[in-house]
Amino acid sequence: KIIYLQDYKPSDYLIPKTEMWVDFTPERTRITTDLHIERQVGVEDGTPLELDGEHLELVSIAIGDEVLGAGQYELSESGLKLLDPPQSFVLSTVVDVEPEKNKSLEGLYRSSGNWCTQCEAEGFRRITYFLDRPDVMSVFTVKMVADKDLAPVLLSNGNPVDSGEMSNNRHFAEWHDPHPKPSYLFAMVAGKLDKISENFTTKSGKKVDLNIYAEPGKAELCRYAMDALIRSMKWDEERFGCEYDLDVFNIVAVSDFNAGAMENKGLNIFNDKYVLADPATATDQDYALIERIIAHEYFHNYTGNRVTCRDWFQLCLKEGLTVFRDQEFSSDERFRDVERIDDVKGLRQSQFVEDSGPLAHPPRPNQYEQIDNFYTTTVYEKGAEVVRMLMTLLGKETFHEGVDLYLERHDGEAATIEQFIKCFEDVSKRDLSQFQKWYTQAGRPQVSYTTAYDAESKQFTLELKQTVPATPGESEKSPMVLPIKFGLVSNNGDDLGWDSVEGAEVRDDLIIMDKEDVTVQFHGVSSAPVVSLFREFSAPVTIQTKASLEEDLHRARLDGDPFNRWESLQSAILNIVSPSMAVDGPALDLDLLDQVASALSQTLDSQDMSPSFKALSLRLPNYQDYAQRVGENINPDHIKSIKRDVDRAIAERLRGQLVSLYSALHLPDEYEPNAEQSGMRSLRNQSLSLLAALNDKQIFEMVETHYNEAQNMTDRQAALAIMCAYAPDRAEPLLAHFKENFAEPMTVFDKWLSLNASIDDDRTIDRIHSLMADDRFSLETPNRVYALFGSFTQGNPTQFAREDGAGFDLIADIIMHIDKFNPQVAGRFAVAFRIWKNFESKRQNAARTALERIRDMENISPNLSEMVNKTLEG
Ligand code: ARG
Ligand code: ZN
Repeated sequence: KIIYLQDYKPSDYLIPKTEMWVDFTPERTRITTDLHIERQVGVEDGTPLELDGEHLELVSIAIGDEVLGAGQYELSESGLKLLDPPQSFVLSTVVDVEPEKNKSLEGLYRSSGNWCTQCEAEGFRRITYFLDRPDVMSVFTVKMVADKDLAPVLLSNGNPVDSGEMSNNRHFAEWHDPHPKPSYLFAMVAGKLDKISENFTTKSGKKVDLNIYAEPGKAELCRYAMDALIRSMKWDEERFGCEYDLDVFNIVAVSDFNAGAMENKGLNIFNDKYVLADPATATDQDYALIERIIAHEYFHNYTGNRVTCRDWFQLCLKEGLTVFRDQEFSSDERFRDVERIDDVKGLRQSQFVEDSGPLAHPPRPNQYEQIDNFYTTTVYEKGAEVVRMLMTLLGKETFHEGVDLYLERHDGEAATIEQFIKCFEDVSKRDLSQFQKWYTQAGRPQVSYTTAYDAESKQFTLELKQTVPATPGESEKSPMVLPIKFGLVSNNGDDLGWDSVEGAEVRDDLIIMDKEDVTVQFHGVSSAPVVSLFREFSAPVTIQTKASLEEDLHRARLDGDPFNRWESLQSAILNIVSPSMAVDGPALDLDLLDQVASALSQTLDSQDMSPSFKALSLRLPNYQDYAQRVGENINPDHIKSIKRDVDRAIAERLRGQLVSLYSALHLPDEYEPNAEQSGMRSLRNQSLSLLAALNDKQIFEMVETHYNEAQNMTDRQAALAIMCAYAPDRAEPLLAHFKENFAEPMTVFDKWLSLNASIDDDRTIDRIHSLMADDRFSLETPNRVYALFGSFTQGNPTQFAREDGAGFDLIADIIMHIDKFNPQVAGRFAVAFRIWKNFESKRQNAARTALERIRDMENISPNLSEMVNKTLEG
């Protein structure tokens, strides 16, 4: 069933108040709910009320004191219908649920024996009957009861108001959340948990208790997450003026969780891999992700919770804005340039691929079958880019006035993208109707340009053109508003000025392009410039114009914008490769390679560039970068050999320099996961990784030493990854050693799984089968599945897309198996097939066969069915 944005209708009934009594026992949980229901003014008498409810066993139902009998309501698979409800009443229901049997990890379920919930988007209907839609907001009071030994900890949203002992070794806790909230933000946790505690005093002097809970024995691993939380709270006050609004803030880390984390009001629930860390088990990258996600969920307290979404089409209203906020947080806490480059790399790896394939959709889609399938990189990461463009377009100050107005005007409301944009129109007095297309139109503008300089008249002419390619279901596209940050780079690297400009709105370093074609004339430019466009990646577009190597290298050396310095070097390397090489095999132009290598060498030598920037420059274009460049008719083996040849050629030219970078960098004895240290580790590890492309025994011995002498997981994992990528045979003993010595905790086991699955070897599929037989592996735990199969589909393209189809078949089998108990995860995994049409015909056929096999399976879930049909048809 397809749901359309245009069919939105406010609810006929509201539920201003909800009271719940929850009784946990090992077999089942009994939930008694009083809903204080009001019919909306203007809605006719006799309008039925349809409450959502799934997998619930109804024990009793009453209106006020009157118990309802059959005939007074209708029950179905999807809910409960009251045919002629009064105008204002209290509906009491008692239901039983079976968390033990719930493997979908939606609603109430058990993870390592603890009860926990996940309600976004539509999990609350598996807990009790309700109007489970984000525009119905209620003030919740929850009383939880459980055995003291089984569940000494009882948590829900809001503030604790009461607790105490009961008979039979039972106890209770009562929670009250004064902020009206939609049901998707509801949460409960009951179980045996350890915790660490701190407190935070808000800017107006309110003291907040902070607790992070984890499974017994793991609380000490939450220290870094706590530190990140405190920094997030402070940052949100300083940058966005947002002050925390309850007496307590609780985080619980659980080991079975479909997504990364969830922003439930006052009670965030996390996938424990984004909470638990110590230097021996977590990498620098893990720490950075923990910091990000802790911040993300905390920031939702305003952008998502205080102002929520009217309906699920508006998902990017909270997610795009909140990702933007977490990106800004990391940029302020770490190195802004490096964070930006990393974020853009991520965007290109996933969102660009999504946008160019069968699953392309706008950040605000206008139809869906299963909302769970729309927690996509387009909604999240492209959504964040759109907010960033708004800031670029309006200027930081006006942008913040707009956010302030949005948070004030819509506080306590469920808002839309239109209302969000309206706030920025009101503060800027600018018409943003065309800008809004970024939310409603799928696909990515392709930009091309030409330049001309006339020395005589000192005129510089820049002609820009944008086209937006068709996407499934959207053939007609209109031009987008592109904020183009730019500079005219002179011979010595300074930006040139101009006397006057015409042809487009140009402000300082910004061209605002809002038509298909724009010609910008700069008068009074003193010498011929090299133009630097889309600095800081100011709009998510693809530049089609292939710059000359001279221009790319000029920018790579001298551009005032670090992003474009990095970008130009990457593009110089990618430009060496022509699409025909993917078919004929590579034939590299050695002269071009010499030039690129020398530019890279200069970057590595530079005194003013940070180790982390250098490390990013050393991360030469990867498989996905080349594959995107080639576009279609892909044979992954060819792409891989292009990369291997380019890497090796560059490594040969830089060998001495890389060896001395690796050996000369000395880190402090004490491990810190901060940006400085992790930048240095990254530079060392990237140097070693590029050296490994030489396929040289001496280098492999260095890698072994690096592994053996590693003092932290970052270096240990890096050494192992290098070996798996370049010398699988030599990796075997290291993998065995790693398994023996680093078996705990499960986050480390997951790293081991990922490394194994990443090996490009014809035996990898057999290896995966034997890994699945390991006692600690379970298809029911999403982290195990993501570690093993995510690494295979994303990090091992040659084996996933084997010519004989064995990789596609393996993933199809796994998806079909998981779909039986966890449709959300099955649907997510189907995304791996979105690139199937880019392959050459043999692989395309093999992928189609696998997809059709999934499509035709018996009892396929609606989630998976939507994904597979779209992938096949789009
Ligand atoms: N709102 C959560 C977050 O971004 C993610 C919820 C995921 N839910 C889902 N059904 N995929 O932090
Ligand atoms: Zn979010």
